[in-house]
Amino acid sequence: MSGSNDHIDDNAQRYGKQAILAAAERLQSGGLVAVPTETVYGLAADSTNASAIAEIYRTKGRPDFNPLIVHVPSIAAAEKLGLLNDLANKLAKKYWPGPLTLVVPKTPDCPVARAVTAGLETIALRCPAHPLMQELLATSGLFLAAPSANKSGGISPTKPKHVEHSLGMATPMILDGGPCENGIESTIVAIRGDDYQILRPGPITAEQLEKCAGKRPVDQQGEKIEAPGQLASHYAPSKPVRLNATQPEPDDYHIGFGAIAGVISLSVSGDMAEAASNLFAALHVADSSDRPHIAIAPIPKIGIGVAINDRLERAAQKA
Ligand code: TXA
Ligand code: MG
Repeated sequence: MSGSNDHIDDNAQRYGKQAILAAAERLQSGGLVAVPTETVYGLAADSTNASAIAEIYRTKGRPDFNPLIVHVPSIAAAEKLGLLNDLANKLAKKYWPGPLTLVVPKTPDCPVARAVTAGLETIALRCPAHPLMQELLATSGLFLAAPSANKSGGISPTKPKHVEHSLGMATPMILDGGPCENGIESTIVAIRGDDYQILRPGPITAEQLEKCAGKRPVDQQGEKIEAPGQLASHYAPSKPVRLNATQPEPDDYHIGFGAIAGVISLSVSGDMAEAASNLFAALHVADSSDRPHIAIAPIPKIGIGVAINDRLERAAQKA
């Protein structure tokens, strides 16, 4: 297991128990592994190993002020790293394992490397649902820091080949779990005492959170950006992106939705969950096409459509 692309010709390392054992060993010895989750592929390392965490930042070209999410197998494990109050517990009980990240105060003896939280007193925690990721957490016994497995600012990976495309020669071992089901990054919720704030919209919608919490989120307006994934330009293809395009221009690679056909469609039937799961793959395809521009049909801003439009607006922003 050496070199950057050894996973490609080695199926034994890609699937099943063998692959999980190899991945766990690599992580335990301070290496990186690209891992499947139900949202997007992550670039994982032992969260307590400072040099492994430094390697994540280097591989992604990520600014060191942008903290990482730590993946845990259970609520009990999360409580070793962060202080979960009643509200945090309620949300975790309802949506873990699943695509919800909770930002909570660190425990006084939180063992994660300082760089994971970029010096903040809070920590972002998530219990992922993907069975391979669950097995990897159990087998390795580690709490895994994992940002999305793409170069900083680029399109998130929802398939192993996207990881290779984005990280190139720096691609580590990939644990192949097939295409990601949700296809869009977890909803990030910051717990503010008895209140909460949505730092990043995602598969768990504002309506779902509100129902579970029994109250509306506090407004984000006027506060400084706390999750740098919220920076205006992010998830960005290399080409100009035009939104709400009902008709293509001659130079466009047109991505359709519902009644608007496009060259490819996020969902022919207009299904929002299907559109979310196809979103980043469609941007990867459009970015690799021979057309110089990308145009995307309008997507309704309801339910998970809020998260889809959030990512599209950032994809359309110039750096
Ligand atoms: O679905 C996901 O969340 C994926 C998979 C791999 O789990 N991960 C992911 O990680 O999207 P990343 O690094 O691409 O995005 C993490 C976001 C960043 O915007 C970061 O700023 C924010 O989480 N974040 C991490 N720790 C934070 C903290 N203590 N306070 C506020 N924001 C935080
Ligand atoms: Mg990311």
